[in-house]
Amino acid sequence: MKPSEINFKKLWKIVISTPNRIHSSVHGPKHWARVERNGLYLCKANSADEEVVRLFALFHDSMRINDHRDPEHGLRGAEYAKSLLNKEYELSEERFELLYYACQYHNKSKTPTENKTIGTCWDADRLDLRRVCIKPSEQLLYSQEAKRIVREKKWAELTKGNNIKNKESLVKFWNNFFH
Ligand SMILES: [Fe+2]
Ligand SMILES: [Fe+2]
Repeated sequence: MKPSEINFKKLWKIVISTPNRIHSSVHGPKHWARVERNGLYLCKANSADEEVVRLFALFHDSMRINDHRDPEHGLRGAEYAKSLLNKEYELSEERFELLYYACQYHNKSKTPTENKTIGTCWDADRLDLRRVCIKPSEQLLYSQEAKRIVREKKWAELTKGNNIKNKESLVKFWNNFFH
């Protein structure tokens, strides 16, 4: 895939500084960063659309207002992504539709999808359930590689060779936005 023309660092700064977002380790930017890491890992295995997956990681929980029941946060995240489209980043209509759908329905139980990029977005999010001590259910995952990680308990593979390798580099990644 050709180098991204989206300035992700700038986009992260914009989203992070948006009023109303929750300051939460459960659904806040550290979670988004791990979803991005998981997504990039899965993209290597199934050639899903990396940019859409990275944008999903950033937007999907960006409009959560609490860490509990907030059933419309996916839709609000999708609308927020729409509000920045063609202003802060460019994406073709077809790819944006994937992003919008992935954000809108990511928290709507087992929504069917045949699209590997959308499935990868949801798997990347679900693979981070371990942060709240929940083992992701293999039946609720879409990609074979995500299912394998869970079945064989190969969690360490998610942190190898990615832009966020371990806890220390996750902190470094996070600190970049404030220094
Ligand atoms: Fe969510
Ligand atoms: Fe999430």
